[in-house]
Amino acid sequence: MAERTTLIAGNWKMNASGEMAVTLIDGLVAWPGKDGVEMLVCPPFPYLGPVGALISESDIKLGAQTCHANASGAHTGDVAAEMLADLGCSYVIVGHSERRADHGETDADVCAKAEAALRAGLTAIVCVGETEAERDAGKTLDIVGSQVANSVPEGATAENLVVAYEPVWAIGTGRTPTSDEVQEVHAAIRAGLASRFGDATANGVRLLYGGSMKPSNAQELLALADVDGGLIGGASLKAEDFTAIADAAP
Ligand code: 13P
Repeated sequence: MAERTTLIAGNWKMNASGEMAVTLIDGLVAWPGKDGVEMLVCPPFPYLGPVGALISESDIKLGAQTCHANASGAHTGDVAAEMLADLGCSYVIVGHSERRADHGETDADVCAKAEAALRAGLTAIVCVGETEAERDAGKTLDIVGSQVANSVPEGATAENLVVAYEPVWAIGTGRTPTSDEVQEVHAAIRAGLASRFGDATANGVRLLYGGSMKPSNAQELLALADVDGGLIGGASLKAEDFTAIADAAP
């Protein structure tokens, strides 16, 4: 199996202030690091520049929470992937379930955004995940499989693609699927990628789990064979919790 660097990614969502960002980043840059673990922070757009400056002397990576599909143009309020790259981002999250719900983003929209990320030289973190009703109906693998098939662009490689599995019902709820359920979905995602891109690419793509990951459950989740990191919301806002999750990586 390919060696995959663990990615511990913090999605701050619409949370931060200048003061909070400084305190949080102070705590993260003091983290001594861990072999085989990459740390990423994804603040809201206005804080990308300041946070980028604060982490510039560290190994912590910078990412954004979404981007527009186009490189420039008349799109008031939107931000191009090229601008993110220009600001020092190396990652961008696309297709988070909150974007899919709040902004009506479809798989096709997400795919176009991921393509934009690749065009700009960024790594796209493509998010997928079922709702509670879909899980209860036994449709999880179908839903996630089709989201991956339709949201991941043709040009994806092990270097420019990360897939995050985030069950919608586990986000911010304190609930998580069982380890067996997480591993089942991750293995299915990797198998889907293998059938489209081949084993070498699929074995190199990192698959993150997201949804109520915290210090107390991180070790078990991160130890799963096809879990290569976490996409963390609430617990990424406290340096102590976020670094504890990073330390829990195998
Ligand atoms: P929580 O960790 O707050 O459940 O959020 C997960 C998430 O949506 C990360 O993108």
